[in-house]
Amino acid sequence: MIRAVVAFALAAAVAAPDPQRGHAIYLRGSGSAPIKAIVGGDASAPIPATVTPCVNCHGFDGRGKKEGGIAPSNLEWTALTKPYASGARSHGPYTAATLRRAFTMGFDPAGNTLDPAMPRYQMSMRDADDLVAYLRTLGTASDPGLAAKSIRIGVLLSPDREKAAAVREVMEAYAAALPELYGRRLELRFLELPADPAARAAAVQSFLAREQPFALAASSFLGAEETIEQVVEDSGTPALAAFAASVSPDAHYTFALFGDVAEAVRRHDAHANLFDGARDQLAMYLQKASGRVYVPAALASEAIFEAPPSVEVVVATAASSDDLAPEALAELKALSPRGGASRGTQAAALATAKVLIEALRRVGRDVTRESLVGEIESLYRFRTGLAPPLSFGPTQHAGTRGAFLLHVDRAAKALRQPEWVE
Ligand code: HEC
Repeated sequence: MIRAVVAFALAAAVAAPDPQRGHAIYLRGSGSAPIKAIVGGDASAPIPATVTPCVNCHGFDGRGKKEGGIAPSNLEWTALTKPYASGARSHGPYTAATLRRAFTMGFDPAGNTLDPAMPRYQMSMRDADDLVAYLRTLGTASDPGLAAKSIRIGVLLSPDREKAAAVREVMEAYAAALPELYGRRLELRFLELPADPAARAAAVQSFLAREQPFALAASSFLGAEETIEQVVEDSGTPALAAFAASVSPDAHYTFALFGDVAEAVRRHDAHANLFDGARDQLAMYLQKASGRVYVPAALASEAIFEAPPSVEVVVATAASSDDLAPEALAELKALSPRGGASRGTQAAALATAKVLIEALRRVGRDVTRESLVGEIESLYRFRTGLAPPLSFGPTQHAGTRGAFLLHVDRAAKALRQPEWVE
């Protein structure tokens, strides 16, 4: 008997509506089971909701984007729970039950039919409850990690201990030296990513749930870009990756310091012979190659100096030490006395911190995650002194578009003549 009660309580706990899952439905149309959408009143041919998720029309902030004569309603909870009148429709406040009915069957609380431009969604009760749980937070909940006197920033540290220590050191010193921002201090939280790339997304997910950072900066996504990005996007946490090979073109919350170097090489030279294997295969690859071979810096090893004479090795990198402005380098040295191989890593980490602080400054005291994203997207040729000028936009979430091409000098074991291409 007691067992049965416990089992029942557990089942109820598992089924508690989850706003985070609701957010995934809102953003991507993906629930616990496939969701279908009836569009334009044509019930004979439902389409996957992933093609037409709520965010497409109602926007990230829920306030609705007017487009082509269609005016999607404001879905902020404060708006939904007020009596409403516009044009043909007037109705009382929504409840959870009438809200479910609105997006599944297309009626408002007064029983008026919603315009066919608003799709009707076929989803499980569970998914509908999760979605309502998310809609309750729209425009009401203040964003996590934000208090009157502090703003919490998470940092995802590389599993490489040396790199992790270098980033932690420079970030702690930077936060300690930073003047208050509208009365707030930066409060840092660190996560050391597990060595196994397949385990990283889950680690990030529990870190975000546990620490509730307002945003992430100076973070490493390397080697698990897609899965970490997905977790970050679903959680709605603005994230600045200092280390990521790429960021997907439809990311909303995720930003990368540097663009995809391999893509920049291909734009520059459509027939480029570009090495994209594992780092320890490079030596073998170069032995068999001929002509010009491009090697992304992340995959380069000593093997570039031992290539046969018939091979011209060109290393492609997003940043070059020539980008370091003397005053930025001095600041970096003052923040962290260590030097050598960690400098480049620290420069990238600090560059993202500067982007974050600049955007926070521009937003002002009443910052939200959405306004922060908006400000980052409006940075144009922003100078950190630690990287090439950075520009972002709503569809441009990597700060740079190009790559430096460096020519290998075998005799001197050096890289020479940096040339910037886009
Ligand atoms: C293709 C665009 C589009 C998509 C996608 C969309 N909506 Fe809408 N939605 C609309 C429009 C347009 C209206 C206004 C309809 C009207 O005024 O009759 C609306 C109205 C609503 C309303 C009614 C509010 C009121 O004014 O009474 C709710 C609730 C709603 N949408 C929720 C959702 C949810 C939840 C999703 C995702 C599961 C979603 N919508 C996806 C376009 C869209």
